[in-house]
Amino acid sequence: MQILKKEIAIEVYDSEVELCAEDQNLLALAKEAMECAYAPYSRFLVGCVLLLENGILVKGNNQENMAYPSGLCAERVAIFYAGANYPGVAVKTMAIVAKAKDYEITNPIVSCGACLQSLTEYEKQFGKPIRTILQGEGGKIWIAKQGTLAFMPFQFHVEELKR
Ligand code: THU
Repeated sequence: MQILKKEIAIEVYDSEVELCAEDQNLLALAKEAMECAYAPYSRFLVGCVLLLENGILVKGNNQENMAYPSGLCAERVAIFYAGANYPGVAVKTMAIVAKAKDYEITNPIVSCGACLQSLTEYEKQFGKPIRTILQGEGGKIWIAKQGTLAFMPFQFHVEELKR
């Protein structure tokens, strides 16, 4: 028997002032995107901004639907838009923020499994992690340089499926 271990590392910052200007800007843009979320059912707003390697910024937010499962998370709205409009361009950094209309989100919110799975496909495509910045409505900020691996250490990936 052996034990398989993977180490994850997440940087924790107390506030935006500790971040570089680029990261501060990404968080500000993610908040802008969050305010445009369409979330009348959950009243939980998520904003996501991707900084592509060519400098282009792609924004996404959650889009809900009366038929609940038809809605889509902010991260997948953003990453699928990037994949559709900028194929072949890697994502360098992603910032995700969340707020609820009826209570306070004081901690960073980690993406759901379906979003992590979708994001990991793009990381694999380009052979590099998407550096991820997370924040709630304010407060502590998490930065994961390992990208989705930090939140989903064992991922579904079967290279052969591409053939
Ligand atoms: N949501 C996201 O946008 N991203 C996630 O990673 C998890 C959840 C959205 C989906 C839904 O509109 C609302 O948050 C509540 O689940």
